[in-house]
Amino acid sequence: MTHLKEIFSRFVSPYLQNATDRERPDIQLKIDHSFDVFENSRNICESLSLPAERTETAQIAALYHDTGRFPQYKAYGTFKDSESCNHGTLGARTVLKYALLNELPRKQRNTILGAIALHNRNALPSFLSDELRICTEIVRDSDKIDIIKVLIPHLTGVLPGNEVPLMGLKEKPEEITPAILQSVKEGRQGAYQAMKCLNDFRLLLLSWAYDLNFEWSRKEMIKRGYVETLMSQLPDTDQIHALRNPIIEQLNS
Ligand SMILES: [Fe+2]
Repeated sequence: MTHLKEIFSRFVSPYLQNATDRERPDIQLKIDHSFDVFENSRNICESLSLPAERTETAQIAALYHDTGRFPQYKAYGTFKDSESCNHGTLGARTVLKYALLNELPRKQRNTILGAIALHNRNALPSFLSDELRICTEIVRDSDKIDIIKVLIPHLTGVLPGNEVPLMGLKEKPEEITPAILQSVKEGRQGAYQAMKCLNDFRLLLLSWAYDLNFEWSRKEMIKRGYVETLMSQLPDTDQIHALRNPIIEQLNS
């Protein structure tokens, strides 16, 4: 694993070096995110007592899951897939192009490439092998927990007109988009495309409670205080309060 971490660091370093002062923090954020997602995947594998080979496969996939972010940002100057390209499939192609994982057995490498390509899908296809499914699910949970960590500071203490734009969304203190609220009420993941303001983003992150695959991730969402933090930033209304218990119940399941 140490060697594969070195290969990853060597791959990302020119992106960091060639970035402008304005771009560098964005690239650094994705590097840090990759290592933090790797750490989360270690915890999930440990909690599942997975066999050594599956553990290794999932951890490599976690570290490399956002490989596509670097060429994406270089080519388009954005991390928004809707305005550039699908960074999951670009990531798989990039790993192949630069032969980053060529030292691995072909079967293991293919599983990792599959997980990278699938990590950002709204939902997973139903026909995956056991091996690929579990690997992808570990990456997706690890990613979600870290994305919430990265986003919470940007969602905290935001004044209207003064927001660091998050996917171009603004702070509209009392607003909620009914479609997003409805998805949380129905216990399913909200759709990115339906979001119209930052409260929708908070609800979307809460809705991930219903899309986490492993107990470790569900517990972690409570333990890190993400539910309470996000709830406290939403409008103080009965319909928002009514979401809390079902979410907590889901996370304790
Ligand atoms: Fe990603």
